[in-house]
Amino acid sequence: MILESALVAASLATVANGAQPGAAAPVAAPMRDLDWGQINFLHTTDTHGWHGGHLQEPQYSADWGDYISFAEHMKAKADEKGVDLLLIDTGDRIEGNGLYDASDPKGKYTYDIVREQPIDVLCTGNHELYIEDSVRREHDITVPNFRDAYLASNLDYIEPQTGNQIPQARRYRKFKTKNQGLTVVAFGFLFDFDRAANNSVVQKVEDTIKEDWFQKAIREKPDLFVVTGHVGLRMKEFELLFKVIRQENWYTPIAFLGGHAHVRDFRKFDDKAYAIASGRYMETIGWLSVDGIKKRAKDSETAIAAAASPTFKRRYIDNNLYGLHHHTGLNETTFPTEHGRNVTQMIAKGRKELKLDQAYGCAPQDLWMNRAEFPSNASVFTWLEEQVLPAIATRDDRADVPRLAIANTGMIRFDIFKGAFTVDSTYIVSPFISKFNYIQDVPYSAAKRVLAMLNGGGPVFSAFEAGSALDTRYLVSPEQWAFAERPQVANAAAAAEARTPVHLQGDGLQKPLGSEGDGSGSKKKPDLITGYTTKDDLGDDGDDTEHEPITFYAVPNCVQSEIAFPAAQQDGQGGEEPDKVDLVFVDYVQPWVLTALKFSGGDYGTDDVAVYRNQTVTDLLAAWITDHWAGDCGAK
Ligand SMILES: *[C@@H]1O[C@H](CO)[C@@H](O)[C@H](O)[C@H]1NC(C)=O
Ligand SMILES: *[C@@H]1O[C@H](CO)[C@@H](O)[C@H](O)[C@H]1NC(C)=O
Ligand SMILES: *[C@@H]1O[C@H](CO)[C@@H](O)[C@H](O)[C@H]1NC(C)=O
Ligand SMILES: *[C@@H]1O[C@H](CO)[C@@H](O)[C@H](O)[C@H]1NC(C)=O
Ligand SMILES: *[C@@H]1O[C@H](CO)[C@@H](O)[C@H](O)[C@H]1NC(C)=O
Repeated sequence: MILESALVAASLATVANGAQPGAAAPVAAPMRDLDWGQINFLHTTDTHGWHGGHLQEPQYSADWGDYISFAEHMKAKADEKGVDLLLIDTGDRIEGNGLYDASDPKGKYTYDIVREQPIDVLCTGNHELYIEDSVRREHDITVPNFRDAYLASNLDYIEPQTGNQIPQARRYRKFKTKNQGLTVVAFGFLFDFDRAANNSVVQKVEDTIKEDWFQKAIREKPDLFVVTGHVGLRMKEFELLFKVIRQENWYTPIAFLGGHAHVRDFRKFDDKAYAIASGRYMETIGWLSVDGIKKRAKDSETAIAAAASPTFKRRYIDNNLYGLHHHTGLNETTFPTEHGRNVTQMIAKGRKELKLDQAYGCAPQDLWMNRAEFPSNASVFTWLEEQVLPAIATRDDRADVPRLAIANTGMIRFDIFKGAFTVDSTYIVSPFISKFNYIQDVPYSAAKRVLAMLNGGGPVFSAFEAGSALDTRYLVSPEQWAFAERPQVANAAAAAEARTPVHLQGDGLQKPLGSEGDGSGSKKKPDLITGYTTKDDLGDDGDDTEHEPITFYAVPNCVQSEIAFPAAQQDGQGGEEPDKVDLVFVDYVQPWVLTALKFSGGDYGTDDVAVYRNQTVTDLLAAWITDHWAGDCGAK
């Protein structure tokens, strides 16, 4: 329901008492309230270092300190009501924002910031596992910081001193809730990730469920199972866990809290088992409540549990101070707690020491990943293809050699906003340490066919099929992957910036994947902010803020630039095709490129590949911006 009073837009020009200095002021919007149950969850996932919030987007500008204040007030409310509140985080806390990536060592500030929130159950994401250093830091820093709350149901660590393979953290946790005295058995899973660094071992979920400890855990007869996981709700791993737990426990409610797909989503497994996914990048705080849980009495367990009909409710809370004030019934003076304020200060200090606000240049316009169609002037990928790649995929000794430069679209992780492009923006847009590799003198007849295959065409398709190591979905953003699997979550997957949207119409070539037909109702209400309009298994009223929907456009797996090709003729005819080209590509794409080349008649192996440039693509991007977008947008 919409609280009309919320429409009376309070003037919140100052954010002195919350969020980061310089952050956009929060915005007012019509709100839907939170429904409380016996047990309630606040859920973060895929925060990727955005603990300072979104400084350029008012809709998401609250920071981790504000979340701490929020949780403190909500816990007090829970105590008042005699119900329980648990805090959950489902991984990918690292990589993707300057606050984590810009420090040496990485995470110098974020590990201390995250630990300030008393999280009740947390687990690991795939991003914590890509390199040995971050696996080790997780083991040496985050696990001790959270002790028993950290769960690693299918993840082991190889101790550097002994070479022993040990659980990364405890496998599961059984505990009684504070106010309701409900018995909970909680797990912490990761999807079947197969690219983990050598000092970690991810066990497939299908094997973990055969382990003795797991079989014992699902026979613990709790009042509620809480399955947390860095797992997309529509992925096979949760399905499997649901089946195996349900088989042993016909009537016990099961709450799943997942992530990885970067979307807001809610899935029904049966009428006593539901799953929530709570977005990405500190845009969303998930709210899940379960009511109608019957506590097990020792003897008549089955009869009582069978009679129970628990209800599950969900909300996707925008990380907007306006909403956090609304849900707690507080204002900018009364909302921040001492602890929350301290953490906001910790973040500000870290950002300052890392000089994250230092500008490389000034972006002349917004450039979108999925909110503009490709190709178009508003697409970040058109910009990459037409302007950036030709300038950075070059080196002096081969500058005149015709070449094709290929980058995967998943390499770009976030939109670019008009205005200052800062040190922080660099990590936000391209957090990866990829470099350009190349194969020299590839016959053009073979090289020219690669892009189409990477983008899903041609005979190579079966080598790239779903689930294989060369699944081409690994080339796109997680948002688009989730989208393709589940069109219903279309708008959930759309980036939800609280800015004037670029309304582009599909032209028939590239249909918008998730345009919402119904603009009629919402048009009448003034001042809706564009943002998430989530459709999930319970309907379309899950977002705590009523938004103007956004259209989400699919983009190709990869883009390509033709560089230093023979010039086109005066009469408009294309220039002559070169015989041979340098095939330049972002190193991440190499396995796909080599496979595609084989199918197009170019038999090359890793021995034929050399480094094209030594700098990371991220550093080259920053240099391009310094050269082409000079200026600091008139900032002091
Ligand atoms: C794992 O170790 C092997 C052999 O030492 C090495 O070739 C490989 O690059 C390592 N992989 C990762 C992800 O660190
Ligand atoms: C905030 O709420 C307190 C307590 O209700 C009130 O005294 C104060 O005037 C409010 N401040 C603002 C800025 O609205
Ligand atoms: C906040 O920071 C101050 C100054 O460092 C410290 O004295 C105080 O104990 C902190 N309070 C909390 C709740 O963390
Ligand atoms: C895109 O930008 C180019 C160069 O600035 C311009 O010529 C062209 O008209 C623009 N196209 C659109 C559709 O705005
Ligand atoms: C990269 O660096 C190495 C070591 O300094 C050097 O030998 C090599 O020539 C460099 N490669 C390129 C493409 O600049």
